[in-house]
Amino acid sequence: MTSHYDFDQNHPRRNTNCAKWDLVEPEVLPLWVADMDFLPPPEVNEALQEAVEHGIFGYSYFGTQVQEAVAGWLARRHGWQVPAEWVVLVPGVVTGFNFAAYAVAQPGEGVLVQTPAYGPFQHVAEHLEMTQQTSQLPQDENGRYYVDLEAFEAAITPETRIFMLCNPQNPTGRVFTREELQGIAEICLRHDVWICSDEIHSDLVYSGYKHIPVASLSEEIAAKTITLVAPSKTFNIPGLRGSAAIIPDEDVRKRFIEAQHGLMGGVNSLGQVAMQAAYEHGEPWLEALLDYLGANRNYLAEFVETRLPGVKMVAPEGTYLAWLDCRALNLETKEGTSFNPFFEEQAKVALNDGLWFGPGGEGFVRLNFGCPRATLVEALERMEEALVGVVS
Ligand SMILES: Cc1ncc(COP(=O)(O)O)c(C=O)c1O
Repeated sequence: MTSHYDFDQNHPRRNTNCAKWDLVEPEVLPLWVADMDFLPPPEVNEALQEAVEHGIFGYSYFGTQVQEAVAGWLARRHGWQVPAEWVVLVPGVVTGFNFAAYAVAQPGEGVLVQTPAYGPFQHVAEHLEMTQQTSQLPQDENGRYYVDLEAFEAAITPETRIFMLCNPQNPTGRVFTREELQGIAEICLRHDVWICSDEIHSDLVYSGYKHIPVASLSEEIAAKTITLVAPSKTFNIPGLRGSAAIIPDEDVRKRFIEAQHGLMGGVNSLGQVAMQAAYEHGEPWLEALLDYLGANRNYLAEFVETRLPGVKMVAPEGTYLAWLDCRALNLETKEGTSFNPFFEEQAKVALNDGLWFGPGGEGFVRLNFGCPRATLVEALERMEEALVGVVS
């Protein structure tokens, strides 16, 4: 399908304090940090322009209009009806999951993370003097990750107080099924474990798959769940720092809000402007984006299969992130570095090293395909060339 949004256009981002482009050497193509090289929906930039023209940037509070924009989006896109007062704004989702653990758990209790998982999940325990617990997602014979409910339950101890669910899952790209989510939630309820569900990638799901907010499964599950959503990945505005927590439990919501005010000071006023505009007007842009990303994903999967010997991937069901299994290449890795050294040095492509994602990440790299097709092609051709002679 063609669209009037031009995702092929190149927008130079260097020298803008851009983490993705400015933290790599000039000759390196960055396919790491999870933002996209696309302009957001035009309505978002128009709303920001209007706010800039108004010109006064005083203190803001989160008004009901923004809460309603979030609730409206969840109802429309995901069929989840949420009263607007459950919506609490937070600057970011990482902030949100740290405050979620703060709101329901005590130092010494356990925080359970399903790995491989987005790096900052692995640091919640140390921030809050809790105990880090992990349950590794297994892969089936085709390399697809799945939830092994027995192993998940076995990872829970009497100390476990909160489980960090990531759905859609970064980095594996899984969009968990109703059965998987129901199974996880029932186990958590049985063991009196809170769920913090990071659903930041929930709008980026490909045809054939459906995102199900875990809290939408039942009132009982919702009562023990803090859900985190954001327009940041969906509409490519993460630098504006506007995200939301959906907290049905009134006491926990109060505790979450009070702790946040003391430590963070609230959401940026421009972030709120962008969030509201994106949720109210961004849907046509998102549909076009999903078509473009889906085509990038298919191109990438085909390229990996036919032109990157020794590398395997399962096409992600959601997210613009691909999890490449490079274990057959026996590449050198270095603890504490962001990039895989082989691809950074030999291919001049920056990819996140799998070690950053905790247990189960060894031998993998994560590739961000949220970029114009030409950038993706260039990066893949560089990787192909670097692999010549590595695998016979
Ligand atoms: C699963 C997940 N959670 C949170 C974040 C970051 O969220 P924020 O920038 O809002 O803190 C990311 C970014 O890549 C992510 O993939």
